Amino acid sequence: MFRESADAWSLTAQGTTGHSEATGQKGCDSPDGLCTCGGSCTCGGMSSCAVGTAHELAESLGRAVDARDCRLFEHSTVVADVCSLLAQAHGLTALQADVVHMAGHLHDVGKIGIPDSILQKPGPLTSLEWEIMRRHPKIGADILRPVRVFRGKPGVCEIVLAHHERWDGLGYPYGIGGRDIPLGARIVAVADALSAMTEERPYRRSLSLDEALAEVERCSGSHFDPCVVRDLLSVRRELHGLLRKAPPSPLWAGPKAARAVLERRNLAATA
Ligand SMILES: [Fe+2]
Ligand SMILES: [Fe+2]
Repeated sequence: MFRESADAWSLTAQGTTGHSEATGQKGCDSPDGLCTCGGSCTCGGMSSCAVGTAHELAESLGRAVDARDCRLFEHSTVVADVCSLLAQAHGLTALQADVVHMAGHLHDVGKIGIPDSILQKPGPLTSLEWEIMRRHPKIGADILRPVRVFRGKPGVCEIVLAHHERWDGLGYPYGIGGRDIPLGARIVAVADALSAMTEERPYRRSLSLDEALAEVERCSGSHFDPCVVRDLLSVRRELHGLLRKAPPSPLWAGPKAARAVLERRNLAATA
């Protein structure tokens, strides 16, 4: 098990109240479950009572994103569950694991702001469409920022913002790399990729768990944090129960059939 250094995740040196011992701030488990520090602390109001409500909100918003796209059967839930497993394998505290889990539910919430014509396009995206698609982490962070419990440092907002950054610095939106990327975002990136690869898409079949793990391992050190990949391989057995498959859909009968399904659905939506 690998333990992240305190500088990579400031919460690592903190108790479950989410307050930095280094700064001497006191705990914030106030009776109403909200932080009373007026936003001056690092926890973003993430007291134990607030976590339950925040999780419900995260799960609900994650389902909203999945509901927009019939290809995303429980994708956000699966990513959240894999994130929990990875957070535990990494030795994070319960609160840190909760933050990563919620970020897993919410990682793609910014896709709410991406037009359907791009989000559900059956074929490859043009460079302009990719440029628009790459805005979703920033849109997601902007959507979540008004919720104080998501604003910890590093918290759900920061993780959502950085979930498409790559270990080698070639990701987006900012092209940061290595441990400049919040650990939670490095965990979400691996969970997201694994989940996506084991799901059906109109342009490809789903990979088996073994195939998907091999692909993640191949991208260790380039796309993904090698430590997180090691964690993933260490929980291989537990993953079988988490990766759920969508019921058989007509989507994979080849790209032509997939296009017909999506076109029919778009027609129904505009009727
Ligand atoms: Fe959840
Ligand atoms: Fe994403």
